[in-house]
Amino acid sequence: MEVKACIFDLDGVICDTAKYHYLAWKELADSLGFEFTPEDNERLKGVSRMASLDILLEIGGLTFDAQKKHQMAEEKNKRYREYIFKMNPDEILPGVLSFLDELKRSGISIALGSASKNAKTILERLGILSLFDAIVDGSMVQHAKPNPEVFLLGAKLVGVQPTESVVFEDAQAGIQAALNGGMVAIGIGDKPVLQKAHYVADGFKDFTLKKLREIVVNL
Ligand code: BG6
Ligand code: MG
Repeated sequence: MEVKACIFDLDGVICDTAKYHYLAWKELADSLGFEFTPEDNERLKGVSRMASLDILLEIGGLTFDAQKKHQMAEEKNKRYREYIFKMNPDEILPGVLSFLDELKRSGISIALGSASKNAKTILERLGILSLFDAIVDGSMVQHAKPNPEVFLLGAKLVGVQPTESVVFEDAQAGIQAALNGGMVAIGIGDKPVLQKAHYVADGFKDFTLKKLREIVVNL
């Protein structure tokens, strides 16, 4: 297999926005009078905004009608956007920039495949929006990960076959989405959690294109 495109998840792969999601959801939980812990927040990684709200309300043992839920999700997003507007290029995770640079120099397409509707804003704040040949965010897909739609669309937009694409993901559902799409799945994070991935790396600090090519050649 020749690697022709690399498709990146955003939150937890390129930057750590989970902490801002946590703070914004926690403010909502506080206002509703229940506790929301960092452990609870783990359940929201890779999950869409509305599905995250459902999990949060389940933790609080509360139910609301659709209109109220929509309003609460909007409020949370408003708070979240206040945090992400303060982000800067220092928040790009170690090694990401040099890996993206290596891909660019090698003519490999770079795409984003994220569930977040704030993806473009975050890439802008990080100063790396222009490095991406295609961006697929939560507003462009019908089906959430583990459905492969977000990654398949990313590959399509850069004109590369799924079988020549590699996905980088930190969430189980995202790894499954890549596998469902017939792509190579590289997990970023914990091996036990991401065991279905073809390979798991701690991050991009020591990850190079040479390493990626060694991985795919042995699949
Ligand atoms: C994912 C995050 O990338 O985006 C989730 O891992 C988040 O935690 C989801 O809920 C949706 O994000 P947003 O920015 O559209 O609310
Ligand atoms: Mg993620």
